[in-house]
Amino acid sequence: MKHLISLLDYSAEEIEQILAIAAALKSKLKSGKRPALLKRRILVQIFEKPSLRTRISFEAAMMQLGGSSVFLAAKDAGLNGRESLADVARVLSGYADVVAMRTFSQQLIGDFAGYARCPVINALSDELHPCQALADIFTMREVFGKTDGKRIVYVGDGNNVAASLAIISGHLGIGITVCTPKGYELKPAFVKDLKQRFPKLKLSTSHDPKKAVADADVIYTDVWASMGQEGEADERKQVFSPFQVNRHLMELAPAGCKFMHCLPAKRGGEVTDEVIDGPNSIAFPQAENRMHLAKGLLTWLLRGPQILERLQD
Ligand code: CP
Ligand code: NVA
Repeated sequence: MKHLISLLDYSAEEIEQILAIAAALKSKLKSGKRPALLKRRILVQIFEKPSLRTRISFEAAMMQLGGSSVFLAAKDAGLNGRESLADVARVLSGYADVVAMRTFSQQLIGDFAGYARCPVINALSDELHPCQALADIFTMREVFGKTDGKRIVYVGDGNNVAASLAIISGHLGIGITVCTPKGYELKPAFVKDLKQRFPKLKLSTSHDPKKAVADADVIYTDVWASMGQEGEADERKQVFSPFQVNRHLMELAPAGCKFMHCLPAKRGGEVTDEVIDGPNSIAFPQAENRMHLAKGLLTWLLRGPQILERLQD
């Protein structure tokens, strides 16, 4: 049994298997087929934070695969001390085949998984957003045909989304530049671990978006204040305004450079309408792909990689 707490716990081969199952299921769906690979299986989702894409893409994924999904707000799950985390995990994993959790604390997901008898998925924590990174790479491959030799230039906050992109880039040999204001970089300890784990990691850091985008195949951004940082939003707006992805910044990138965003976006903040709605934006196919990747991940976790053979007819 495997969890998805961090993509650091995965091999490149395992990531490729998930991407391949997602691609096969997406292609089946486009020809009207929804194979019931998870018939009567149950996903329980426990979220401490709001969600549109993650929650609904996982629900839709389970339903398309013949299973079902139950949603619990954290207060209903009792994660606030109604009972111990260990007891919640032991009880829920007697009902569920798989659990997805969105929390503030990364540690909480790992601890929950330690007590659970079913796979546990990190559906976003303050530190990581692995499901997003899987869908992002899948989207890049659809658009460019490959990710080998490509460079993502992430412009904005060195947050959970940036960290997961850096990890998956390390696995798959993708170049990544993380361009942030001073004081908002990826955590030094995280970068140190990442470099140890991936000695060939093509990670650059920058504080100058205009220079950083010069070799971008993708310019990627995310909100300047993540969920839980709402109180810092005004201060961050001042600091991050030179990092806005607008037409002028896109024009400094090579022709054909695409724009990506995990969404939700603060239009007029980290990105302008003109860019996110423009011809180079792939933010909405990227959002759709969250569901295809959720299907790939759930199927891989519950049926194993061998399911791919069944999907190749
Ligand atoms: N990208 C993403 O995770 O969106 P939600 O917060 O709406 O789930
Ligand atoms: N960094 C953002 C991502 C939302 C999908 C947040 O954590 O709020």
